[in-house]
Amino acid sequence: MSQPVSTAVKVGKTSEAADGGAIPRHVAIIMDGNGRWAKARGLPRTVGHREGAEALRRVLRASAEFGVDYLTVFGFSSENWKRPPEEVTDLMGLLRLYLRQEIAEIDEKGVRLRVIGNRDRLSSDIIQLIEEAERRTAGNSRLNLTVALSYGGRAEIVSAAQQLAKAAQAGSLDPEDIDEGAFQRHLFTSDMPDPDLVIRTSGEKRISNFLLWQSAYAEYVFMDKLWPDFSGEDLKIAITEFGGRKRRYGAAG
Ligand code: IPE
Ligand code: IPE
Ligand code: MG
Repeated sequence: MSQPVSTAVKVGKTSEAADGGAIPRHVAIIMDGNGRWAKARGLPRTVGHREGAEALRRVLRASAEFGVDYLTVFGFSSENWKRPPEEVTDLMGLLRLYLRQEIAEIDEKGVRLRVIGNRDRLSSDIIQLIEEAERRTAGNSRLNLTVALSYGGRAEIVSAAQQLAKAAQAGSLDPEDIDEGAFQRHLFTSDMPDPDLVIRTSGEKRISNFLLWQSAYAEYVFMDKLWPDFSGEDLKIAITEFGGRKRRYGAAG
């Protein structure tokens, strides 16, 4: 077979860095370690989350500088609702603040902001802020920032299956036509390339339900740094590591 790559694996077109290494077109980050960062300093977890928002600002800037087209960050998982109500309230408060304070700068920098995840569980004022931010930045194309909120990869896959089943039941879709491409069109990320590089900070080596379908052929880089300490330089380290990897997509290499 001459085409070993499944048609549904949306291969990112990687560009080249000044030093010759490949720049991933789509970087996804599991921003982990805020709580441990705060604990190590005897501070409340919420301070760690606040510093985490600062790290996101830095990384967004660096991503644009390095020529990354898509940056997707895991901000709050569908499982994070299990945390104590005070922490959830703090996180939602920070999210409100981020959406209010950052949007002007995000827009000015030509960044398109999108949110993926189950919005039903978010409060109505946050949903409104998200919708406003998405509308305001819809015409921007320098960098696509996607924030996963109340997001779970399995829930996303189940929802796609449900939509396809409904279409089949209604007679508008022949089950024979359900292939990987059709499935993918029902995911939140239908119009994005798959992530080339997934970074997880804080030393944990797991996916925690992030972009399960989309990361089928992503390169993973696990870093010990806690997310609030993460800098543009750390992003560069991960990108350099990515540049040295050989991606085979199942082919002989
Ligand atoms: C990541 O940091 C942020 C969220 C999950 C919202 P954590 O809050 O998970 O920090 P640790 O893993 O407890 O250190
Ligand atoms: C994953 O981190 C979710 C986010 C970074 C938003 P968690 O801290 O929730 O993941 P686990 O519990 O260590 O797997
Ligand atoms: Mg964590």
